[in-house]
Amino acid sequence: MASLQAIRYTRGSLQVLDQLRLPHEHHYDPVTTAEEGFDCIRSMRVRGAPAIAIVAALAHAVELQNGAASSAGDTIAYIDSRLDYLYESRPTAVDLGNAITALKKIVRGVDVSGLDQDAARSAIVNAYIEAAEEIFRKDTETNLKIGSHGAEWLLENAPIKSAEDKVAVLTHCNTGSLATSGHGTALGIVRSLHAQGSLSHAFCTETRPYNQGSRLTAFELSFEKIPSTLITDSMAGALFATRKQSDSIAAVIVGADRVVRNGDTANKIGTYALAVLAQHHGIKFIVAAPTTSIDLVTDSGTGIKIEERKPEELTQISGAVVGADGKVDASKSVRVATADQTIGVWNPAFDVTPAELIDVVVTERGVVTKGADGRFNFKEIMPERW
Ligand code: MRU
Repeated sequence: MASLQAIRYTRGSLQVLDQLRLPHEHHYDPVTTAEEGFDCIRSMRVRGAPAIAIVAALAHAVELQNGAASSAGDTIAYIDSRLDYLYESRPTAVDLGNAITALKKIVRGVDVSGLDQDAARSAIVNAYIEAAEEIFRKDTETNLKIGSHGAEWLLENAPIKSAEDKVAVLTHCNTGSLATSGHGTALGIVRSLHAQGSLSHAFCTETRPYNQGSRLTAFELSFEKIPSTLITDSMAGALFATRKQSDSIAAVIVGADRVVRNGDTANKIGTYALAVLAQHHGIKFIVAAPTTSIDLVTDSGTGIKIEERKPEELTQISGAVVGADGKVDASKSVRVATADQTIGVWNPAFDVTPAELIDVVVTERGVVTKGADGRFNFKEIMPERW
Protein backbone atom coordinates (compact mmCIF):
# COMPACT_ATOMS: atom_id res chain seq x y z
CA MET A 1 0.00 0.00 0.00
CA ALA A 2 1.36 3.43 -0.99
CA SER A 3 -0.47 5.34 1.74
CA LEU A 4 -2.95 4.50 4.45
CA GLN A 5 -6.45 5.32 3.35
CA ALA A 6 -9.48 4.46 5.44
CA ILE A 7 -11.90 5.66 2.77
CA ARG A 8 -11.70 5.18 -1.00
CA TYR A 9 -14.29 7.04 -2.99
CA THR A 10 -15.13 7.86 -6.56
CA ARG A 11 -18.60 9.03 -7.57
CA GLY A 12 -20.99 6.09 -7.17
CA SER A 13 -18.46 3.89 -5.37
CA LEU A 14 -17.36 3.85 -1.72
CA GLN A 15 -14.91 1.41 -0.16
CA VAL A 16 -14.06 1.39 3.51
CA LEU A 17 -10.98 -0.23 5.01
CA ASP A 18 -12.07 -2.77 7.63
CA GLN A 19 -10.17 -1.50 10.69
CA LEU A 20 -11.20 -4.54 12.73
CA ARG A 21 -8.74 -6.56 10.64
CA LEU A 22 -5.83 -4.15 11.00
CA PRO A 23 -2.89 -4.26 11.28
CA HIS A 24 -2.72 -7.79 9.90
CA GLU A 25 -5.05 -7.61 6.91
CA HIS A 26 -6.00 -4.82 4.52
CA HIS A 27 -9.48 -5.50 3.32
CA TYR A 28 -11.86 -2.91 1.85
CA ASP A 29 -15.62 -3.39 2.16
CA PRO A 30 -17.86 -1.89 -0.53
CA VAL A 31 -20.52 0.40 0.94
CA THR A 32 -23.47 0.89 -1.38
CA THR A 33 -26.32 1.91 0.94
CA ALA A 34 -27.03 3.88 4.11
CA GLU A 35 -27.63 0.53 5.86
CA GLU A 36 -24.15 -0.68 4.93
CA GLY A 37 -22.66 2.65 6.03
CA PHE A 38 -24.54 2.45 9.34
CA ASP A 39 -23.31 -1.08 9.94
CA CYS A 40 -19.72 -0.17 9.09
CA ILE A 41 -19.81 2.68 11.63
CA ARG A 42 -21.73 0.84 14.38
CA SER A 43 -19.42 -2.20 14.16
CA MET A 44 -16.37 0.13 14.18
CA ARG A 45 -14.97 -1.14 10.90
CA VAL A 46 -14.55 2.59 10.44
CA ARG A 47 -14.22 4.88 13.45
CA GLY A 48 -12.84 8.28 14.43
CA ALA A 49 -15.06 11.36 14.49
CA PRO A 50 -14.27 12.80 11.03
CA ALA A 51 -14.22 9.40 9.28
CA ILE A 52 -17.62 8.49 10.75
CA ALA A 53 -19.15 11.69 9.32
CA ILE A 54 -17.48 11.19 5.93
CA VAL A 55 -18.59 7.57 5.57
CA ALA A 56 -22.17 8.41 6.57
CA ALA A 57 -22.34 11.33 4.11
CA LEU A 58 -20.78 9.33 1.27
CA ALA A 59 -22.80 6.15 1.91
CA HIS A 60 -25.93 8.15 1.19
CA ALA A 61 -24.26 9.91 -1.76
CA VAL A 62 -23.53 6.52 -3.34
CA GLU A 63 -27.07 5.26 -2.97
CA LEU A 64 -28.41 8.53 -4.38
CA GLN A 65 -25.99 8.34 -7.32
CA ASN A 66 -27.26 4.82 -7.99
CA GLY A 67 -30.88 5.97 -8.16
CA ALA A 68 -32.18 5.49 -4.61
CA ALA A 69 -34.28 8.67 -4.66
CA SER A 70 -35.98 8.00 -7.99
CA SER A 71 -39.01 6.26 -6.54
CA ALA A 72 -39.20 8.39 -3.37
CA GLY A 73 -41.94 11.04 -3.36
CA ASP A 74 -40.42 14.08 -1.70
CA THR A 75 -36.64 14.08 -2.32
CA ILE A 76 -35.76 16.31 0.62
CA ALA A 77 -37.91 14.25 3.01
CA TYR A 78 -36.22 11.11 1.68
CA ILE A 79 -32.71 12.53 2.18
CA ASP A 80 -33.67 13.69 5.69
CA SER A 81 -34.93 10.23 6.62
CA ARG A 82 -31.74 8.52 5.43
CA LEU A 83 -29.57 11.04 7.28
CA ASP A 84 -31.66 10.74 10.46
CA TYR A 85 -31.16 6.99 10.28
CA LEU A 86 -27.37 7.34 9.83
CA TYR A 87 -27.26 9.79 12.76
CA GLU A 88 -28.17 6.95 15.13
CA SER A 89 -25.06 4.91 14.24
CA ARG A 90 -22.83 6.38 16.99
CA PRO A 91 -23.87 9.11 19.40
CA THR A 92 -20.84 10.86 20.89
CA ALA A 93 -18.87 12.36 17.99
CA VAL A 94 -20.49 15.63 16.90
CA ASP A 95 -18.95 15.65 13.40
CA LEU A 96 -21.72 13.38 12.17
CA GLY A 97 -24.46 15.68 13.51
CA ASN A 98 -22.68 18.77 12.15
CA ALA A 99 -22.30 17.14 8.71
CA ILE A 100 -25.97 16.12 8.66
CA THR A 101 -27.11 19.64 9.63
CA ALA A 102 -24.94 21.13 6.87
CA LEU A 103 -26.17 18.64 4.24
CA LYS A 104 -29.83 19.21 5.14
CA LYS A 105 -29.30 22.96 4.80
CA ILE A 106 -27.63 22.59 1.40
CA VAL A 107 -30.43 20.51 -0.14
CA ARG A 108 -32.97 23.02 1.15
CA GLY A 109 -31.05 25.82 -0.56
CA VAL A 110 -31.37 24.33 -4.07
CA ASP A 111 -33.44 26.56 -6.36
CA VAL A 112 -35.94 24.28 -8.07
CA SER A 113 -38.31 26.96 -9.31
CA GLY A 114 -39.42 26.33 -12.88
CA LEU A 115 -38.11 22.74 -12.87
CA ASP A 116 -40.29 19.68 -13.44
CA GLN A 117 -40.30 16.96 -10.77
CA ASP A 118 -37.48 14.90 -12.34
CA ALA A 119 -35.23 17.89 -12.92
CA ALA A 120 -35.88 19.16 -9.38
CA ARG A 121 -35.01 15.75 -7.96
CA SER A 122 -31.76 15.64 -9.99
CA ALA A 123 -30.78 19.13 -8.88
CA ILE A 124 -31.29 18.25 -5.20
CA VAL A 125 -29.52 14.89 -5.52
CA ASN A 126 -26.56 16.49 -7.32
CA ALA A 127 -26.28 19.21 -4.70
CA TYR A 128 -26.24 16.56 -1.96
CA ILE A 129 -23.60 14.45 -3.70
CA GLU A 130 -21.33 17.43 -4.35
CA ALA A 131 -21.66 18.60 -0.74
CA ALA A 132 -20.84 15.13 0.63
CA GLU A 133 -17.81 14.94 -1.66
CA GLU A 134 -16.71 18.36 -0.43
CA ILE A 135 -16.81 17.15 3.21
CA PHE A 136 -14.47 14.31 2.21
CA ARG A 137 -12.15 16.52 0.16
CA LYS A 138 -11.94 19.33 2.69
CA ASP A 139 -11.07 17.07 5.61
CA THR A 140 -7.46 16.40 4.54
CA GLU A 141 -6.91 20.10 3.88
CA THR A 142 -8.26 20.83 7.37
CA ASN A 143 -5.95 18.26 8.94
CA LEU A 144 -2.86 19.63 7.22
CA LYS A 145 -3.67 23.05 8.69
CA ILE A 146 -4.22 21.55 12.16
CA GLY A 147 -0.87 19.79 11.78
CA SER A 148 1.06 22.95 11.03
CA HIS A 149 -0.75 25.17 13.58
CA GLY A 150 -0.26 22.56 16.30
CA ALA A 151 3.41 21.94 15.50
CA GLU A 152 4.14 25.66 15.46
CA TRP A 153 2.36 26.28 18.78
CA LEU A 154 4.06 23.39 20.50
CA LEU A 155 7.53 24.36 19.33
CA GLU A 156 6.95 27.85 20.73
CA ASN A 157 5.39 26.70 24.00
CA ALA A 158 7.02 23.36 24.81
CA PRO A 159 8.09 23.21 28.45
CA ILE A 160 11.05 21.13 27.37
CA LYS A 161 12.96 20.36 24.16
CA SER A 162 15.91 18.17 23.29
CA ALA A 163 19.36 19.65 22.69
CA GLU A 164 18.47 19.61 18.96
CA ASP A 165 15.29 21.64 19.64
CA LYS A 166 13.00 18.66 19.16
CA VAL A 167 9.99 17.62 21.20
CA ALA A 168 8.76 14.25 22.45
CA VAL A 169 5.00 13.71 22.64
CA LEU A 170 2.45 11.14 23.68
CA THR A 171 -0.78 10.50 21.82
CA HIS A 172 -3.85 8.45 22.69
CA CYS A 173 -6.31 6.44 20.60
CA ASN A 174 -6.08 6.79 16.82
CA THR A 175 -6.51 10.18 15.21
CA GLY A 176 -4.50 9.61 12.04
CA SER A 177 -5.22 8.84 8.40
CA LEU A 178 -7.38 5.96 9.55
CA ALA A 179 -9.68 8.25 11.54
CA THR A 180 -9.99 10.89 8.83
CA SER A 181 -9.68 11.32 5.07
CA GLY A 182 -5.92 11.68 5.48
CA HIS A 183 -3.03 13.06 7.62
CA GLY A 184 -5.07 13.06 10.83
CA THR A 185 -5.68 15.57 13.62
CA ALA A 186 -3.63 14.87 16.78
CA LEU A 187 -1.56 12.36 14.85
CA GLY A 188 -1.45 14.97 12.08
CA ILE A 189 0.45 17.27 14.47
CA VAL A 190 2.84 14.40 15.24
CA ARG A 191 3.27 13.85 11.49
CA SER A 192 3.85 17.55 10.84
CA LEU A 193 6.44 17.74 13.66
CA HIS A 194 8.21 14.72 12.18
CA ALA A 195 8.08 16.08 8.61
CA GLN A 196 9.80 19.29 9.70
CA GLY A 197 12.46 17.43 11.71
CA SER A 198 11.15 18.64 15.08
CA LEU A 199 9.97 15.37 16.62
CA SER A 200 12.37 13.46 18.85
CA HIS A 201 9.94 10.66 19.69
CA ALA A 202 6.26 9.77 19.71
CA PHE A 203 4.72 7.50 22.33
CA CYS A 204 1.33 5.96 21.72
CA THR A 205 -0.92 4.32 24.26
CA GLU A 206 -2.46 0.93 23.65
CA THR A 207 -5.91 2.51 24.27
CA ARG A 208 -7.86 -0.22 25.99
CA PRO A 209 -10.31 -1.72 25.59
CA TYR A 210 -10.54 -1.41 21.85
CA ASN A 211 -6.80 -0.97 21.23
CA GLN A 212 -6.99 1.78 18.62
CA GLY A 213 -3.49 2.77 19.79
CA SER A 214 -1.77 -0.57 19.42
CA ARG A 215 -3.73 -1.79 16.40
CA LEU A 216 -3.97 1.45 14.45
CA THR A 217 -1.70 4.26 15.71
CA ALA A 218 1.30 1.98 16.22
CA PHE A 219 0.69 0.73 12.69
CA GLU A 220 0.48 4.25 11.25
CA LEU A 221 3.63 5.35 13.11
CA SER A 222 5.58 2.30 11.91
CA PHE A 223 4.21 2.72 8.39
CA GLU A 224 5.52 6.30 8.32
CA LYS A 225 8.80 5.30 10.00
CA ILE A 226 8.25 7.84 12.77
CA PRO A 227 10.46 7.13 15.82
CA SER A 228 7.89 5.73 18.22
CA THR A 229 7.15 3.49 21.17
CA LEU A 230 3.98 1.74 22.29
CA ILE A 231 2.99 1.72 25.98
CA THR A 232 -0.04 0.41 27.83
CA ASP A 233 -2.42 3.09 29.12
CA SER A 234 -1.33 2.37 32.68
CA MET A 235 2.33 3.21 31.89
CA ALA A 236 1.76 6.90 31.12
CA GLY A 237 2.39 8.08 34.71
CA ALA A 238 5.63 6.15 34.92
CA LEU A 239 6.66 7.48 31.51
CA PHE A 240 6.06 11.08 32.54
CA ALA A 241 7.87 10.58 35.84
CA THR A 242 10.95 8.76 34.63
CA ARG A 243 11.94 10.13 31.22
CA LYS A 244 15.34 11.77 31.36
CA GLN A 245 15.36 15.57 31.44
CA SER A 246 16.62 15.98 27.86
CA ASP A 247 13.95 13.85 26.23
CA SER A 248 11.00 14.33 28.57
CA ILE A 249 7.51 14.41 27.13
CA ALA A 250 6.61 17.99 26.18
CA ALA A 251 2.96 17.39 25.37
CA VAL A 252 0.08 14.98 25.31
CA ILE A 253 -1.75 15.47 22.01
CA VAL A 254 -5.23 13.99 21.62
CA GLY A 255 -8.16 14.30 19.25
CA ALA A 256 -11.77 15.02 20.13
CA ASP A 257 -15.17 13.56 19.50
CA ARG A 258 -16.93 16.64 20.81
CA VAL A 259 -15.57 19.90 22.20
CA VAL A 260 -18.42 21.81 23.82
CA ARG A 261 -18.91 25.55 24.33
CA ASN A 262 -16.91 25.81 27.57
CA GLY A 263 -14.06 23.67 26.14
CA ASP A 264 -14.88 20.42 27.99
CA THR A 265 -13.86 17.68 25.59
CA ALA A 266 -15.20 14.18 25.02
CA ASN A 267 -12.55 11.88 23.61
CA LYS A 268 -11.52 8.25 23.86
CA ILE A 269 -11.77 6.74 27.32
CA GLY A 270 -8.49 7.34 29.16
CA THR A 271 -8.02 10.89 27.86
CA TYR A 272 -9.15 12.43 31.16
CA ALA A 273 -6.65 10.38 33.16
CA LEU A 274 -3.85 11.50 30.82
CA ALA A 275 -4.88 15.15 31.27
CA VAL A 276 -4.71 14.86 35.07
CA LEU A 277 -1.29 13.24 34.82
CA ALA A 278 -0.07 15.84 32.32
CA GLN A 279 -1.04 18.67 34.64
CA HIS A 280 0.73 17.02 37.56
CA HIS A 281 3.91 16.74 35.50
CA GLY A 282 3.82 20.20 33.87
CA ILE A 283 3.23 18.67 30.43
CA LYS A 284 1.18 20.57 27.85
CA PHE A 285 -2.21 19.07 27.03
CA ILE A 286 -3.31 19.73 23.47
CA VAL A 287 -6.67 18.89 21.89
CA ALA A 288 -6.56 18.77 18.10
CA ALA A 289 -10.02 19.16 16.59
CA PRO A 290 -11.44 20.42 13.32
CA THR A 291 -14.19 23.00 13.83
CA THR A 292 -16.61 20.26 12.75
CA SER A 293 -15.84 18.56 16.10
CA ILE A 294 -16.90 21.66 18.05
CA ASP A 295 -20.40 21.77 19.48
CA LEU A 296 -21.35 25.30 20.51
CA VAL A 297 -24.90 24.22 21.40
CA THR A 298 -23.93 22.11 24.41
CA ASP A 299 -22.73 24.31 27.26
CA SER A 300 -20.57 21.91 29.25
CA GLY A 301 -19.36 18.34 29.42
CA THR A 302 -22.28 17.21 31.57
CA GLY A 303 -24.50 17.59 28.47
CA ILE A 304 -22.50 15.10 26.40
CA LYS A 305 -24.03 11.69 25.77
CA ILE A 306 -21.32 9.08 26.25
CA GLU A 307 -21.65 5.90 24.20
CA GLU A 308 -21.48 2.66 26.18
CA ARG A 309 -20.35 -0.37 24.24
CA LYS A 310 -20.76 -4.11 24.67
CA PRO A 311 -19.04 -6.07 27.50
CA GLU A 312 -17.20 -8.36 25.06
CA GLU A 313 -14.85 -5.49 24.18
CA LEU A 314 -13.39 -5.92 27.67
CA THR A 315 -13.78 -9.63 28.20
CA GLN A 316 -12.57 -10.83 24.79
CA ILE A 317 -9.95 -9.81 22.28
CA SER A 318 -9.30 -10.66 18.63
CA GLY A 319 -6.00 -10.97 16.84
CA ALA A 320 -3.99 -12.95 14.34
CA VAL A 321 -2.27 -16.20 15.23
CA VAL A 322 1.45 -16.02 16.08
CA GLY A 323 3.34 -19.16 15.01
CA ALA A 324 5.99 -20.97 17.04
CA ASP A 325 8.56 -19.07 14.92
CA GLY A 326 7.16 -15.75 16.23
CA LYS A 327 5.69 -14.87 12.82
CA VAL A 328 2.15 -13.51 12.52
CA ASP A 329 -0.14 -15.56 10.30
CA ALA A 330 -2.60 -12.95 9.05
CA SER A 331 -4.79 -15.60 7.46
CA LYS A 332 -5.61 -17.09 10.88
CA SER A 333 -7.59 -14.79 13.14
CA VAL A 334 -8.66 -15.76 16.63
CA ARG A 335 -10.97 -14.44 19.30
CA VAL A 336 -9.75 -15.06 22.84
CA ALA A 337 -11.49 -14.72 26.22
CA THR A 338 -9.47 -12.48 28.55
CA ALA A 339 -11.78 -12.42 31.57
CA ASP A 340 -14.51 -14.35 33.29
CA GLN A 341 -17.35 -14.15 30.77
CA THR A 342 -20.02 -13.58 33.44
CA ILE A 343 -18.41 -10.60 35.20
CA GLY A 344 -20.36 -7.33 35.10
CA VAL A 345 -18.72 -4.80 32.78
CA TRP A 346 -18.85 -0.99 32.42
CA ASN A 347 -17.59 0.05 29.01
CA PRO A 348 -17.93 3.78 28.25
CA ALA A 349 -16.21 4.47 24.92
CA PHE A 350 -15.33 8.07 25.86
CA ASP A 351 -14.69 10.32 28.84
CA VAL A 352 -14.87 14.07 29.31
CA THR A 353 -11.76 16.11 30.04
CA PRO A 354 -12.63 19.37 31.78
CA ALA A 355 -11.49 22.53 29.96
CA GLU A 356 -9.34 23.54 32.93
CA LEU A 357 -6.97 20.64 32.14
CA ILE A 358 -6.62 21.58 28.46
CA ASP A 359 -4.02 24.14 27.35
CA VAL A 360 -5.17 24.74 23.80
CA VAL A 361 -7.59 23.49 21.17
CA VAL A 362 -5.91 23.38 17.76
CA THR A 363 -8.30 23.84 14.85
CA GLU A 364 -7.82 24.43 11.13
CA ARG A 365 -8.67 28.07 11.74
CA GLY A 366 -5.92 28.51 14.31
CA VAL A 367 -4.99 27.69 17.90
CA VAL A 368 -7.70 28.55 20.42
CA THR A 369 -6.33 29.73 23.76
CA LYS A 370 -8.09 30.76 26.95
CA GLY A 371 -8.99 34.34 27.83
CA ALA A 372 -8.44 36.03 31.20
CA ASP A 373 -11.72 34.44 32.37
CA GLY A 374 -10.21 30.97 31.76
CA ARG A 375 -12.66 30.24 28.92
CA PHE A 376 -11.64 29.20 25.42
CA ASN A 377 -12.18 31.94 22.90
CA PHE A 378 -14.10 29.98 20.26
CA LYS A 379 -15.94 33.12 19.22
CA GLU A 380 -12.78 34.48 17.62
CA ILE A 381 -12.45 31.58 15.18
CA MET A 382 -16.15 30.81 14.69
CA PRO A 383 -18.02 34.11 14.95
CA GLU A 384 -20.65 32.83 12.50
CA ARG A 385 -21.56 29.93 14.78
CA TRP A 386 -21.21 31.69 18.14
O1 MRU B 1 -14.23 4.96 19.31
P1 MRU B 1 -13.41 5.66 18.27
O2 MRU B 1 -12.26 4.85 17.78
O3 MRU B 1 -14.27 6.20 17.16
O4 MRU B 1 -12.80 6.91 19.03
C1 MRU B 1 -11.96 7.78 18.34
C2 MRU B 1 -11.47 8.91 19.17
O5 MRU B 1 -11.77 9.04 20.34
C3 MRU B 1 -10.65 9.95 18.46
O6 MRU B 1 -9.73 10.52 19.33
C4 MRU B 1 -11.57 11.05 17.91
O7 MRU B 1 -12.66 10.51 17.25
C5 MRU B 1 -10.84 11.95 17.00
S1 MRU B 1 -10.34 11.17 15.49
C6 MRU B 1 -9.57 12.34 14.57
